[in-house]
Amino acid sequence: MSELKELLKNKWVNNWNLFFLISLPISAFMFVPLLSFESITGAEISEMISFSVRWAVPFIYLVIAISSLQILFPNAFTRWLMRNRKYIGLVFAVAMAWQGLFIFIMSYYFHDYYFSEVYYFRDEIEGSIGYIFLMAMVLTSFKFGSKLVSSSQWRIIHKTGVYFLWAYPFSVYWWTISYYGNALLIDYVFYWIGFLAFLARIVAWGKMRYEKLTNKNMIDQYFGIFVILLGLTMSVTSLYWQAFLTKYLTFFSWSATFELWLPFWPFEPFLSLMVIGLGTMILTNEDAQKVNAKILNQK
Ligand code: HEM
Repeated sequence: MSELKELLKNKWVNNWNLFFLISLPISAFMFVPLLSFESITGAEISEMISFSVRWAVPFIYLVIAISSLQILFPNAFTRWLMRNRKYIGLVFAVAMAWQGLFIFIMSYYFHDYYFSEVYYFRDEIEGSIGYIFLMAMVLTSFKFGSKLVSSSQWRIIHKTGVYFLWAYPFSVYWWTISYYGNALLIDYVFYWIGFLAFLARIVAWGKMRYEKLTNKNMIDQYFGIFVILLGLTMSVTSLYWQAFLTKYLTFFSWSATFELWLPFWPFEPFLSLMVIGLGTMILTNEDAQKVNAKILNQK
């Protein structure tokens, strides 16, 4: 354990060294499939778009989970992750820059393929918002950029950006496993890691609330656990309820119109996590009656 502690202090696995240690090999890997293509068409570039983003996604999942991992497992490793959070985020940005480059190549050189095979208005809006956040986050990660915004603006950009950039790939994989029914192992892996990353946030939040509880209500406790189990069940059965739920959530014409352009609307990929979050809130609820009784007794 102390060897690991020492290793994590080594300058080669911290700050900019860590950034280059991970982002340079990732960039080199981009050439592996590129060099194996016999010809380059829209389909190959589309493959490269997927290939490059798969290198990016684990890092945004990690970034969203880091602060919670530190609460749940306070140790040298999670402290190291926390210290290097910025550089892990920048690795994500490098892999996303590769995806951005392939997107540009496709839309510029394979225009027809792009509009016939790829273009979908809402995806375009979601993807563009994602890149705008990413650019703002990278810019404000440096002194010259952070000077342009106040500290509360900085927090808004980074918090919303991290949530958005987690939500995008998580929802992509959720739809792959919940709609098409022909998901590959890698789609499940990316879905579950994204799910667990966000679950870590909910558990850490619940842990902090639970530790502050002075009065527990047994009914709340059982009901909270029931709701959490419901959310967990929803997370593994989405293939069976997605079509039914989407149909009802987009029943009204305003909701069906929103679905065409509003990012993520009506939020089906996130429902199971929302239910788990609700269950955690109920489970860690202060018993109002006991608190009131205590106050009255004290009087
Ligand atoms: C306007 C911006 C964007 C465009 C035009 C775009 C386009 C694409 C295309 C063409 C694919 C491949 C689809 C296929 O072969 O079926 C793809 C896949 C994907 N994109 Fe994007 N994208 C954009 C932004 C983003 C952003 C911001 C993220 C967030 C991380 C993201 C995450 C993904 C993921 C997770 C996949 C699936 C990769 C896989 O197959 O495993 N994209 N995108």
